[in-house]
Amino acid sequence: MGAIKTVGVVGAGTMGSGIAHVAAQSGCSVIIAEAQESQLERAQKYIGEINRRNVEKGRLSEAQAEEMMGRMRFVQDLSALSAADICIEAIYEDLEAKKEVFRQLDKIARPGVILATNTSSMSITEIGRATARPERTVGLHFFNPAQVMKLVEVVRGYYTSDETMQEAQAFAQALGKTAIAVQKDQPGFVVNRVLMPLLAEACKVVEEGVATVEDVDTAVKLGLNHPMGPFTLLDFTGIDVCYAVMEYFYREFGDPAYKPPLLLHQLVRAGRMGKKSGAGFYEYQ
Ligand code: 3HC
Repeated sequence: MGAIKTVGVVGAGTMGSGIAHVAAQSGCSVIIAEAQESQLERAQKYIGEINRRNVEKGRLSEAQAEEMMGRMRFVQDLSALSAADICIEAIYEDLEAKKEVFRQLDKIARPGVILATNTSSMSITEIGRATARPERTVGLHFFNPAQVMKLVEVVRGYYTSDETMQEAQAFAQALGKTAIAVQKDQPGFVVNRVLMPLLAEACKVVEEGVATVEDVDTAVKLGLNHPMGPFTLLDFTGIDVCYAVMEYFYREFGDPAYKPPLLLHQLVRAGRMGKKSGAGFYEYQ
């Protein structure tokens, strides 16, 4: 793991807690900062639950699980991240909110500490410019569920130094991930840029009455060997999250091909966010 022994994570939602868990599984101490106490409690419960499953499956002893939880600190105060050797922001997809976190982290983190963002699509350059260390800012894009998915996109902002890219890639590899370098700070990097048009097209196929939600999922699963069909994946990732990413692409690229489908808009307006809201595409038809 080199010099990185303590990992700071901001945000204890699905991605923040997943990333924190991966870091703890790799032997790091982890500090997770989240303003909402209920969210912190949920994250702690979620990680404990996965550890319990791993103990049941014989992958982890009770003692190891306990020791791992002992290395994780769940805090509400961001200033605890002054002890971190790398900070990873994993809050919701809102550029201004992310910039504000980076402004604060820049004051809290020791000089030279890398400040990474797990943004799904937004500009690393813009987020990094909220700090006085843009050369030490980088994208570290994990995929959901972070414990299972093997890829991390390491994204270069305009000012990110070569050294930061190398250290961030080495860190991702030390966490057991395969890191790819995204050399240009363009919306969506690689995976989401490829994925979102697929999800949008699946919505259009249903809107046009070509096939049902269920049949499109079956088609993509069996015809392309994807582990989940597009609608199951939309529900799993969060319909609101995918909608926000598509809207951002549409704004940034100015290309109608990225316009979010009406069907997504309707579901977001109706509060059907997918798995986390308990209602998504399978209730649509
Ligand atoms: N946390 C930790 N471990 C988990 C987990 C979670 N949330 N969900 C599943 N797992 C583990 C299970 O414990 C199981 O482990 P084991 O096989 O070693 O016992 C393993 O993953 C497989 O799980 P299941 O048997 O329960 O179910 P599946 O075989 O259907 O796999 C899946 C579940 C891994 C989620 C699989 O369906 C999958 O890969 N789906 C696609 C996920 C995907 O595409 N993610 C990317 C989304 S896009 C994104 O994140 C980008 C963002 O920016 C929008």
